[in-house]
Amino acid sequence: MRLGVLTGGGDCPGLNAVIRAVVIAGHVRYGYETLGYLDGWRGVLDDRARLLDPVESDGLLALGGTVLGTSRTNPFAEERGAERVIANLAERGVDVVVAIGGDDTLGVANRLGTMGVRVVGVPKTIDNDLAGTEVTFGFQTAVQTATEAIDRLGTTAESHHRIIVCEVMGRNAGWIATEAGIAGGAAEILVPEVPFDLDEVCAKLLRRHERGQFFSIVVVAEGALPAHAGEAEAAAGARSDAPTDAFGHARLGGIGDWLAGELERRTGYEARSTTLGHIQRGGSPTAFDRVLATRFGVAAIEAVHDGDFGIMVALQAAAIVRIPLSDAVGKPKTVDRDLLDGVAAPFLG
Ligand code: F6P
Repeated sequence: MRLGVLTGGGDCPGLNAVIRAVVIAGHVRYGYETLGYLDGWRGVLDDRARLLDPVESDGLLALGGTVLGTSRTNPFAEERGAERVIANLAERGVDVVVAIGGDDTLGVANRLGTMGVRVVGVPKTIDNDLAGTEVTFGFQTAVQTATEAIDRLGTTAESHHRIIVCEVMGRNAGWIATEAGIAGGAAEILVPEVPFDLDEVCAKLLRRHERGQFFSIVVVAEGALPAHAGEAEAAAGARSDAPTDAFGHARLGGIGDWLAGELERRTGYEARSTTLGHIQRGGSPTAFDRVLATRFGVAAIEAVHDGDFGIMVALQAAAIVRIPLSDAVGKPKTVDRDLLDGVAAPFLG
């Protein structure tokens, strides 16, 4: 049995741990050989791959990023893309593709699956917005990084009696903002799922100052926008000419700077903003993410062994399960409102 493994979409801590688990568990348990495709679906389209050695792969557990490289390539957006993928896999004698990715990468896997390609999906995204799994690997590491940053921003904000806006990743879902905001004791958490009222945010910050709390950390997800149409337009204006990727997603970023300016102007308090950006995606995975990535990788091998294709391995109620890929893609998992409105709310403002 020959496997092809690839990593697609934005990188995240734990990708290498999954690759390691697939290569070693496949080899040790069933004698599988694993071919690593370079740069996600791009490598399959261009037929760029290398054999992965089980002994060399052992050192990958704690390494950030992906040794295979990644891209946001969409074969279905290219001339005869799907046919080229299918032909190239056949040429290399690849029996099964283990695709490690988020909604876009696994969406491609799902479509190829309906065309006869044998695929197993492994869920990845620091945004944690993939349906069907309670958590994706990489998310916990990103939350830890963001929390450490918020802690640091807190001490300088307090010294200078400032508002500091911390912009975190989260295109469609505010999971990082919510969890890091709770863990970092933020005064406000703004997420894409809930358009925010700028006047209300300012009123909360003014009340904090009246109570003698002279500094505030506002955590905002990159995809969050104000509710008021005029303000939303102004906030989005900063990124209106941003390029889009092969899946049609515009490059985000900029809401934090805009928001800090508005908060300073409206409250009269000095404000600054910090965008964490790709710092959240880099570096070594936490122990939790290393374990989860390893569990996912081993579970993917078991699915291959059972001949269970067109599925994604997932975490549900602390157990690793398999769900149809079609149940996971195309419907972002939005933030848990109990967490935001129930747990976080008493500490905001
Ligand atoms: O992978 C998802 C994500 O982390 C989003 O939160 C963010 O908008 C995007 O990736 C940024 O991607 P890029 O690396 O292309 O700037």
